[in-house]
Amino acid sequence: MRKLTYVIACSIDGFIGGPDGDASFMYPYVVGEYAEYLRTEHPDINPTHVRRLIGTDDVPNRAYDTIVQGRRSYDEALKEGITSPFAHLREYVVSRTLAESPHPNVEIISSDPVARVRELKAEDGPLGIYLCGGSVVAGELLDEIDELIIKTYPIVLGTGMPMFGSGFDVTEFTLGEVRAFDNGAVVRTYTRKR
Ligand SMILES: NC(=O)c1ccc[n+]([C@@H]2O[C@H](COP(=O)([O-])OP(=O)(O)OC[C@H]3O[C@@H](n4cnc5c(N)ncnc54)[C@H](OP(=O)(O)O)[C@@H]3O)[C@@H](O)[C@H]2O)c1
Repeated sequence: MRKLTYVIACSIDGFIGGPDGDASFMYPYVVGEYAEYLRTEHPDINPTHVRRLIGTDDVPNRAYDTIVQGRRSYDEALKEGITSPFAHLREYVVSRTLAESPHPNVEIISSDPVARVRELKAEDGPLGIYLCGGSVVAGELLDEIDELIIKTYPIVLGTGMPMFGSGFDVTEFTLGEVRAFDNGAVVRTYTRKR
């Protein structure tokens, strides 16, 4: 079984963006040794235009060969005119409203994302599936998530978009690697208890 990994940036109080999802105030933390860590140890999670900027566009995929994101997250790229934001991965966008894909590398999942993700997880292959968010799609796919990589920045928001747009339930994870950086960013990896 291939793993589904939710890789997400958040505030100390667990919000992935402001109430409307905007997370641009987190970008200034991606500098220095932390940016270098992301560049070298998580090259697959950067969008294509960022990979080009930081010179990793030719780096072979290391952890993932597939990405799943919700339509509202994909919109962040579309509004910049980018139709295939993760061209180094097979891209899946969950949407009921996108009638057809804006790019040949992007497949639309128009219903039952859980069933489609189960099919993707059942494929053979050494690399996993990167769940990019956002909140709604992560909430729907919570039961399928095998691993969390939580990038926490040293800010408190008070309110905002939750990491999971799902109802109350207790789901247990085991803490793995923890990395702390000089700018206050902390990256924690958790594996789901099954
Ligand atoms: N901090 C971070 O690292 C991070 C990472 C990713 C995203 N974000 C932020 O998250 C925000 C977006 O999150 P979000 O929770 O609002 O939206 P989202 O999860 O990205 O996308 C929600 C959309 O997915 C589609 N969808 C959901 N369930 C579906 C189903 N069962 N069948 C078919 N389609 C389904 C719908 O699209 P349609 O409306 O087209 O039907 C829905 O509007 C963005 O503002 C982004 O900046 C932050």
